[in-house]
Amino acid sequence: MERILVIGANGQIGNELVDALVAQHGADNVIAADIGPRSLFGARRYEPVDVLDSNAVAHCIENYGVTQVYQLAALLSVTGEQVPLKAWTLNMNGLLNILEIARERGQSGKPLRVFWPSSIAAFGPHTPAVDTPQLAVMDPTTIYGISKQAGERLCEYYFSKFGVDVRSIRYPGIISYKSPPGGGTTDYAIAIFHAAQRGETYPCYLGPETTLPMIYMPDAIRATIELMDAPAERVRIRSAYNVAGLSFNPRELAQKIKQYLPQFGISYEPDSRQTIADSWPHSLDDTYARADWGWHARIGLEQLVLDMLANIKAPRCELHQAA
Ligand code: SER
Repeated sequence: MERILVIGANGQIGNELVDALVAQHGADNVIAADIGPRSLFGARRYEPVDVLDSNAVAHCIENYGVTQVYQLAALLSVTGEQVPLKAWTLNMNGLLNILEIARERGQSGKPLRVFWPSSIAAFGPHTPAVDTPQLAVMDPTTIYGISKQAGERLCEYYFSKFGVDVRSIRYPGIISYKSPPGGGTTDYAIAIFHAAQRGETYPCYLGPETTLPMIYMPDAIRATIELMDAPAERVRIRSAYNVAGLSFNPRELAQKIKQYLPQFGISYEPDSRQTIADSWPHSLDDTYARADWGWHARIGLEQLVLDMLANIKAPRCELHQAA
């Protein structure tokens, strides 16, 4: 029986991952943790834990007999550029604390399987942008991307040096409706749906042809759990796996939204986030994930747009219903 701790449970991924893990393992076996107050989602157990407080995390793991940790607490690319030292400290020390706890527990016969998210932000302007291979030049330009690249190296190091069973995915931009957009360069692809449903023209901070790798949340959650459930010997990559969902640019996304909301309009007002997006891949080659643990994406643009529009309700409709 697994006992699972999700750190960063209030964030975009954590929020939905907790639900999925509760469905799989039962509410008693999933402990949601984050700084700040409880805001739960199905898990009965919540612990206010700061991942930077290594002792508190270690106590939580010991008390609950935790066997798997998802360490999701991080600052994203745009927020990170506003507070680079804070982003570096949280993103790196958070991971290091968990890896150290896993190393120590492994030595005392209590192995801990660890998941930590990497990102397309670990790539940079000299990375081949189309069908970016698993092994490629990585020269990230944001503090977020630098922390992800360094984190990947740490994961591989703790695996090969200490046998820590750590697993990771280079997430594309994750699109979802349960959390508000915020903090990421790829978040235009969430904000656009909120604007569309409010009947507003969306001022897009990326140019129309800025193609980026994206993934819809149900695919991202499935990838995460499939990787964590894979037998250890199948997980040959211990830095982080390329995982492809779909790729599109703002013009293509807006066109698809217009098919369902013909009055929707978009304007293009690129800002500093354009430079970040321009340094990232357009699409990913996920051959290793497919070969090693059977990954394949299921959700394309049509389904994504329909589902987002169905779940992000138009305020005017709500008012209408309430009247
Ligand atoms: N979605 C993230 C960001 O835009 C990338 O991992 O910062």
